[in-house]
Amino acid sequence: IPHLAVCVNKMDLTGYDQARFEAIKAEFTEFARSVGYEGGGVTSPSEVGDPAGVGPGKKVTFFPISALKGVNCVNRGAETPWYAGPTVLEYLETVEITADRNLSRFRYPVQMVLRPNLDYRGFAGQVASGIVKPGDEVMVLPSGKTSRVKSIDVMGGTLEEAFAPQSVVLRLEDEVDVSRGDMIVHAADVPKVTRSFEADVVWLHEQPLDPARHYLLKHTSQTTRVGIDGVDFRIDMDTLAEVATDSLGLNDIGRVRLTTHKPIFCDPYAENRVTGSFILIDAITNNTVGAGLVVKARDEAPSETHARNLTIHRSEINADERTKAHGHRGATVWFTGLSGSGKSTIAYRVEKRLVERGVFATVLDGDEVRTGLSSDLGFSDTDRAENLRRVSEVARLLTRSGAIVLCAFVSPRVRDRDAIRARFETGEFAEVHVATPLEVAAARDPKQLYAKAKQGAIKDFTGISAAYEPPTNAELTLDASSEPVERLADEIVAWLEKSGVVPRR
Ligand code: ADX
Repeated sequence: IPHLAVCVNKMDLTGYDQARFEAIKAEFTEFARSVGYEGGGVTSPSEVGDPAGVGPGKKVTFFPISALKGVNCVNRGAETPWYAGPTVLEYLETVEITADRNLSRFRYPVQMVLRPNLDYRGFAGQVASGIVKPGDEVMVLPSGKTSRVKSIDVMGGTLEEAFAPQSVVLRLEDEVDVSRGDMIVHAADVPKVTRSFEADVVWLHEQPLDPARHYLLKHTSQTTRVGIDGVDFRIDMDTLAEVATDSLGLNDIGRVRLTTHKPIFCDPYAENRVTGSFILIDAITNNTVGAGLVVKARDEAPSETHARNLTIHRSEINADERTKAHGHRGATVWFTGLSGSGKSTIAYRVEKRLVERGVFATVLDGDEVRTGLSSDLGFSDTDRAENLRRVSEVARLLTRSGAIVLCAFVSPRVRDRDAIRARFETGEFAEVHVATPLEVAAARDPKQLYAKAKQGAIKDFTGISAAYEPPTNAELTLDASSEPVERLADEIVAWLEKSGVVPRR
């Protein structure tokens, strides 16, 4: 809000006392400064409507008024000869707001691909900010492909330029791949493409923000899963102080760190209201639970790539074509549980059952991965997190290529497992808790590790000298201490059938 108008009402009760007005003005100016407003907005009628007078910062303007007597509301009052500024109405009618419209950075979230016939391919959307003209060099995000604008089409003709907030159809010179949720921008001025960012979030629901859960984030024309990495603080509305917290309740405003499943193309809200704002949706109830303003992209986030200048090519095969070729969809089934709980045994049995019916299934197992892919890692919290990050990336790539990936890893931390889940779409990921009690696993002790750990020969051993955090949101919980492995494998296969990953038999 770049213009703040403060009416100091009931001036008639003070006998139009200038000193009282100035005191209130000084006090409020100090408060407004603490939330980013400069004092001394418009002070004379001639400045109203003059963008230079309003300046680049957020300005606050004061009016000494009496609403009851109509002083300085519509007409200037003789009662305040000391006031030289505009009346409230003069101000409202002429304050320059078009300059606040963002015409500098072209952002065009694609809402729909129009393909009425083979000769026409247009991208429908609303210009979120900036101006675009035929011939402009543009880039499509996230692919990074560039082309030029061929024409700007509207009902009944074409335009020489389009600007925010017009809704148009863009056609490009080249056959570049563009889908809903992509963004077209000027190649020379690209927004931040990121998965991790900080935002000020207003929480809108009675049920508080739960950092352990995943939400959906709707940003311009795309929707993606999002995980909450942490809440830094909430604002105390009375004092504006930042109060440490790890959640947000109804109507709280706070600074939140988020990581999305797919990259978003964003600007800070202060620079762009459209590409800087988003809403958070509860994926189960479909309720809007929060609204957010992007503060900045996070560079230091662990999931952020260090490499630069990357262009991700798109496969020429889409998910449906792949499913048709394989006869089933890809998915990852993640088995978590104590060492010796039976994760690997169940995973390998499920693999056998699936392969026997012609399904492309494969197992990634902790003990094996740790002799190769993760041979440089131990069992500290950080090493386990890195081990699981690598494995889940492999599982994601295999899932996308159509495989059913059965992952058997202790994965003792909720946080790590949630980060794993965030790499997948709903319906292509299941967390399976192999909930064999510690006593049973330790008594079985197939690799004699519990015995060694109890003697102190293995440090950070899960269940003995390191924590295991059981899941609360697992898709399946298996009791491997009493049920035979064949029955447990049945449950997994049934889940895959129910979720439409593999066809029913
Ligand atoms: S995870 O914690 O990073 O998920 P992962 O599943 O890869 O662990 O490896 C666990 C396997 O490594 C166990 O099945 C066990 O055979 C072996 N292991 C060796 N040391 C430890 C330890 N300190 N804690 C847990 N497992 C260990």
